[in-house]
Amino acid sequence: MNIEVKGLRKDYDDKRVLDDININIDKGVHGLLGPNGAGKTTLMRILSTLIPKTSGEVYFDEINVENKKEIRKIIGYLPQEFSFYPNFTVYEILDYFAALSNKKLSRSEILSKLEEVHLQELSKVKTKALSGGMKRRLGIAVAMVGRPEVLIVDEPTAGLDPEERIKIRNVFSEIGKDKTVLLSTHIVEDIVLSCSNLVVLNKGKVVYDGAVGNMIKQAKGSVWGVKIDIDKIEEYNRNFTVLSTVFEEDKASLRILSKEQPSSSAEVVPPTLEDAYMKLIREV
Ligand SMILES: Nc1ncnc2c1ncn2[C@@H]1O[C@H](COP(=O)(O)OP(=O)(O)OP(=O)(O)O)[C@@H](O)[C@H]1O
Ligand SMILES: [Mg+2]
Repeated sequence: MNIEVKGLRKDYDDKRVLDDININIDKGVHGLLGPNGAGKTTLMRILSTLIPKTSGEVYFDEINVENKKEIRKIIGYLPQEFSFYPNFTVYEILDYFAALSNKKLSRSEILSKLEEVHLQELSKVKTKALSGGMKRRLGIAVAMVGRPEVLIVDEPTAGLDPEERIKIRNVFSEIGKDKTVLLSTHIVEDIVLSCSNLVVLNKGKVVYDGAVGNMIKQAKGSVWGVKIDIDKIEEYNRNFTVLSTVFEEDKASLRILSKEQPSSSAEVVPPTLEDAYMKLIREV
């Protein structure tokens, strides 16, 4: 399923939170990246029909987002913050949400849904005993209960350890084989490892939309490596966007974001996706 967003705008009172958003999201796993307050949750909530847009158009294939009833049949949404009834077991939660969405599932169907998010062994555990990552995976299973064509997940990996993040990413890769998945994050690494395409939002505007590899290319020639005396660090921090500082005895190795060569001994180094992201956000 294809999500088409045209000239989308959202205002809260006189504050513009989303400004002329034009994007197309197709099958596969897509990342929505941006700093705090960029408008990621707002965009996802509009796509999920939870809040109205101020103007612009959103279509899921031929279906207008204004058609809430139809849209809700085809999307699953996992919010940034959520909680479960603490005394329900993992199994009961899925059974309950399936009933709420008028999809009565058999016992084996529920167990197979839990298997998809690697929770089958925890089916009898109460949700209050789950870790953050386990809860997120249960949340994904709940969002997938109505077999949606589109899955929208807000910050699924926030606060998770590396192992849990890998598990969650693998779950999305599986789902993304034949569905449309949109996930937001501010962890650049999540995007590299699980998304083919990404949209970067900054201050309510799309500052990048395309393949992950192309975004890295855009930062070529803008990232510099330089070795300096430690007492010069402050001066560099004042004058440049310093991406990282590594101390080596009485010297410091800096990575710097700059259009021009920051000093005669600085050499261009290959950018990472994180560098490219910083370039977009800092508008260097
Ligand atoms: N109900 C609301 N009323 C007024 N302003 C709001 C409302 N919801 C969000 N905003 C504002 O809209 C902007 C975008 O917020 P949003 O939650 O979409 O950002 P975000 O990219 O999801 O940030 P985060 O990474 O912190 O989750 C922020 O400036 C926020 O203060
Ligand atoms: Mg958010």
